[in-house]
Amino acid sequence: MLTRRSLVKAGLAGLGSAQALLASTTAAEVSAGRRPFRIAHLTDIHIQPELESAKGLASCFAHVQSLAERGDEPVDLIITGGDTIMDCMEAGRDRTQTQWDLWKKVKADACSLEMRSVVGNHDVWGWTKSKAKTTGAEPLYGKAWACEQFGRALPYESFDRGGWHVVLLDSVFPHGEGYIGTLDDAQWDWLERDLAAVPATTPVLIVSHIPILSVHPLATAAAGAPGKDGKPSFALSGGLVHVDHPKFQALFARHPNVKACLSGHLHIVERIDFGGVTYLCNGAVSASWWKGKHRGTDFGYAVVDLCHDGTLECRYVPYGWTART
Ligand SMILES: [Fe+2]
Repeated sequence: MLTRRSLVKAGLAGLGSAQALLASTTAAEVSAGRRPFRIAHLTDIHIQPELESAKGLASCFAHVQSLAERGDEPVDLIITGGDTIMDCMEAGRDRTQTQWDLWKKVKADACSLEMRSVVGNHDVWGWTKSKAKTTGAEPLYGKAWACEQFGRALPYESFDRGGWHVVLLDSVFPHGEGYIGTLDDAQWDWLERDLAAVPATTPVLIVSHIPILSVHPLATAAAGAPGKDGKPSFALSGGLVHVDHPKFQALFARHPNVKACLSGHLHIVERIDFGGVTYLCNGAVSASWWKGKHRGTDFGYAVVDLCHDGTLECRYVPYGWTART
């Protein structure tokens, strides 16, 4: 198999030219239909100066980029799923700058693959004004800082790769000094127009930070107030799943080429097949914010294969990190 290591060993001058040749070769394999388009979904990284998380992330990038050297297929694209940094919703300017600088350095030093990024709630600067000491008038307030880091004007986008249409959503909107999972009207308009422009034969993958559908909040819910019929009910937080899920159901019913939705946020691994759509919550690079497994979910990332027949395969890959003290 053609790998980065074999190219360098073969005498190609430098890692850069070897990677460029490998990238064009693997892209040709995808377009020729010889293998699926492969995404590594790295969600909830929560990079911070503490707990050696920079080393942890570098080891995760190394794991992703060495799949082919271990006899597996190479990754074509990394999608980070939000919560890139530990937190800036409650953090001041200096702490926020420190975290984004660390992210930028590890990415530059340890990742040579193309990357696209989703914004998570912890990437939104200063909405908890009482703790962050923000006014809301700062140029980098809210999602602007994350968008600047990701090199984008808007916190959502779509693109076509490997025969699929991929949509990255912004699912974090303010509620009090915190947030809920939803799209605003402008993004709903954009999403409806975006999907309407996709040929019905093109499969669609949607990536959000907060799950569009998850059973996990139900499985961990406390008892809520009785429902209209007086029976006991569950108390579910609108910060855990998209509160506008019914609108997604209606949209997906009009676009049966929407095949799967990836998310993070909950730091657990989950798969739900519902209404013809597969909902995958893909753990966390940071597990329990780097301190150990989260509800049994290891430090990991997901390998997602977008197949040419419109099916999708996903597996969670622990990358061997253990918590530092
Ligand atoms: Fe998170």
